[in-house]
Amino acid sequence: MNGKLSINLTRLTDSIAEMGRIGRRPGLRGVTRLALSEEDGEARDLLVHWMKDEGLRVSVDSIGNVFGVREGSDPGLRPVIMGSHLDTVIDAGVYDGAYGVLSALEVVRRIKEERIKTKRPIGVGCFTNEEGVRFQPDMMGSLVKTGGYPLDKVYTHKDDEGVTVREALEGIGYLGSAGVDPEAYFELHVEQGPVLHRRGAQIGVVEGVQGIAWWRMRLHGEANHAGTTPLDMRRDAMAGAAELYTRLLGSVTRCGNAVCTMGKLRLEPGAINVVPRLADFTVDYRSYDDATFREGKAEVERTAGEVAERRGLRLEKEMTANFQPVHFRPEMVDVVEGEARGRGYSTLRLPSGAGHDAQFMHTACPTAMIFVPSVNGVSHSPDEYSEPEDLERGANVLLGCALARAGV
Ligand code: GLV
Ligand code: MN
Ligand code: MN
Repeated sequence: MNGKLSINLTRLTDSIAEMGRIGRRPGLRGVTRLALSEEDGEARDLLVHWMKDEGLRVSVDSIGNVFGVREGSDPGLRPVIMGSHLDTVIDAGVYDGAYGVLSALEVVRRIKEERIKTKRPIGVGCFTNEEGVRFQPDMMGSLVKTGGYPLDKVYTHKDDEGVTVREALEGIGYLGSAGVDPEAYFELHVEQGPVLHRRGAQIGVVEGVQGIAWWRMRLHGEANHAGTTPLDMRRDAMAGAAELYTRLLGSVTRCGNAVCTMGKLRLEPGAINVVPRLADFTVDYRSYDDATFREGKAEVERTAGEVAERRGLRLEKEMTANFQPVHFRPEMVDVVEGEARGRGYSTLRLPSGAGHDAQFMHTACPTAMIFVPSVNGVSHSPDEYSEPEDLERGANVLLGCALARAGV
């Protein structure tokens, strides 16, 4: 404790559990709240309800980001915002995103309970479509908010059913017009990787976020009989996708500081005895190293072209995200480390392997991220888990950082 104000862990874990009941689907163990879906709308409604209960001023901006702000003693000052996201991947755990949003809410609740009046306004932010599963690109809310992508263009992006971002925002009642302009941003998140857990560190002091590039690719070949068509006479789209993935995995393995994933694949016509005429798939490529990221992206595109040519396939490719590696301001990294150590927590500096809204908020205001250990490094899975003591430590660091920035 060492005399510092701490959050209420029971209240925090209760709110995570309650939020985690939204988006349950039969047959899946985890939560599924795809961005701007009915379930995402329900999660947002619950958050707004809680924000209003605390007397926060709620606003929604034109890309659907939700903010709840508690006035400071000098309301003319820009607010300190803490936050993350409430949308999830398919069959997710309950912590990714929700932990950051609900810890931010817990910080505000705790401050209010103690009747602390901060100088700056202080509040909670919930960003639209961090995950990018239903609509691309990911981190859509923070990207658009900070001017990294045009609003009118993003409104026209469609999901697999042809629903646009704008229609989906309207559909759940979160097409707003007025957001907030933070003076600083703090994001608390589960690490989603194994480093802190393996190294036994209690708090991850996040130095930056690795670059992320996404493509949707289609290889067009020729459907033919699986029994009669000799191997050297096929134009097999699946064989092209498989060769591409194998080559890219070989390349990132040799390189050592990049990762690559083909997470979604659809074949046409999709029959056991037909050579596939179409492979429609995604490629996710990441590296924290600026040069590797630049060269790796070029290699992905070059390899796809080579594979298509060698196999007589036609390649269509569309880049759906291209975010440079981010390095947070050193003084903001120091704030997190100082706060954690001041509370007696062990720390480890590390970059983030996952994408976060903080990587775009960083372009608009001083930004920092705090990680807590993920047991066995599992995330984007119903088995995602973090120990309550770690959740508590992370939220305490968030509380300390935000209070210091907002001033009392
Ligand atoms: C978001 O979670 C991402 O890193 O893909
Ligand atoms: Mn997340
Ligand atoms: Mn995620």
